[in-house]
Amino acid sequence: PEQRLAVQAAVQANRDQPGNLLLVLHAVQDRLGFVPPDAVALIAFELNLSRAEVHGVVSFYHAFRTAKPGRHVLHLCRAEACQSVGAAALEAHAKKSLGVDFHGTTADGAVTLEPVYCLGNCALGPALMIDDKLCGRVTPARFDQFVADMRA
Ligand code: FES
Repeated sequence: PEQRLAVQAAVQANRDQPGNLLLVLHAVQDRLGFVPPDAVALIAFELNLSRAEVHGVVSFYHAFRTAKPGRHVLHLCRAEACQSVGAAALEAHAKKSLGVDFHGTTADGAVTLEPVYCLGNCALGPALMIDDKLCGRVTPARFDQFVADMRA
């Protein structure tokens, strides 16, 4: 029911806009944190599209998540300026210490790890976004501290 309400609200708000499918998908993800596979059929029906079309767009755009995220979402910058100041080492550390790959969620449901390409914080790399909070000069030790705080 929550999924149905989210889809209906998203469709109502965006049906008449150009590019309505992307707008609807973003609105659903904003509300639920992801685009549930079960919602695809309803979105397709509401927008008069085929399921394959909707599914194709969801899987094409990396911004859409199809599984429920953890309580916190970390976006780790993989772009060049951050790479030049240690982002690759931070990425390896993050994956190892969380026990997940990109797009994965820790077993306790606390953290989802996502890649991102430049957070506009290039002078202060390696950059990390914790939910809506931007962090710079993130060392492996600071990363572990952030995660410990999230789990506290
Ligand atoms: Fe990482 Fe720009 S390259 S914030």
